[in-house]
Amino acid sequence: MSTHSNKVAIVTGASRGIGAAVAERLAKDGFTILVNYSGDAAPAEALVQKIEAAGGSARAAKADVSDPAAVRRLFDTAEAAFGGVDVLVNNAGIMTLAPIAEVEDAAFDRLIAVNIKGTFNTLREAARRLRNGGRIINFSSSVVGLYQPTYGVYAATKAAVEALTSVLTKELRGRAITVNTVSPGPTATDLFLVGKPQELVDRLAKMAPLERLGTPDDIAAAVAFLAGPDGAWINGQTLRANGGII
Ligand SMILES: NC(=O)c1ccc[n+]([C@@H]2O[C@H](COP(=O)([O-])OP(=O)(O)OC[C@H]3O[C@@H](n4cnc5c(N)ncnc54)[C@H](OP(=O)(O)O)[C@@H]3O)[C@@H](O)[C@H]2O)c1
Repeated sequence: MSTHSNKVAIVTGASRGIGAAVAERLAKDGFTILVNYSGDAAPAEALVQKIEAAGGSARAAKADVSDPAAVRRLFDTAEAAFGGVDVLVNNAGIMTLAPIAEVEDAAFDRLIAVNIKGTFNTLREAARRLRNGGRIINFSSSVVGLYQPTYGVYAATKAAVEALTSVLTKELRGRAITVNTVSPGPTATDLFLVGKPQELVDRLAKMAPLERLGTPDDIAAAVAFLAGPDGAWINGQTLRANGGII
């Protein structure tokens, strides 16, 4: 505990799934956490209480990352409460699947709004406001590489996240801020599990040579590495955390 006790991390989409595991892990590593969510406040508030009961420091803040004004307020909240921001974990994301021939306009627009514009909104704010020496960790997916049917629009949004990572890495030259992407494979969260028959879940779980789904904690460990001292020399990279699926 307390290895990074003066450092502040915003984790987007941290009320459940991978984001919640990341928030908890970074809090254990000593970061002060702003737990972002966009819908129900209850799980985010429960996570804050859990972090504080374990001796950490956190607060919850509502913001839909696709809304630039809400993202500005999210950074305002972190600065007012904690004095500044050192780490941005751009975890918030959504996934809807359909063959390209059947994608509806509304689903396409929402994927772009949350996964690309949401990531862009927080990156723009971080580029302006992150303290020198900071870390940015974006979220892609191993579907960039696997490119399976029905994943077209989702994979396109995540490929865009990887492009933003590469460019921002260079634009932040001179500020000692690293920008990387974590790219999970199938991971046991609502996003992956909801709506899939058990037979499909089992088949996808067996695809990786390690023959299981990832856990949110597996992914949080990769983020903690990039956010912590051991990740200092990793910059502009995509780290696939996927049990070897690709
Ligand atoms: N699970 C996987 O297999 C997998 C694989 C590869 C990549 N990923 C990526 O990993 C990240 C986390 O996924 P997950 O599996 O943990 O998803 P999840 O279980 O569905 O959780 C998503 C989180 O994001 C939040 N969120 C959704 N839309 C938001 C918005 N517009 N603004 C702010 N927060 C928002 C949700 O909060 P609310 O409920 O409050 O909206 C929730 O806390 C995503 O970027 C996803 O694409 C996941």
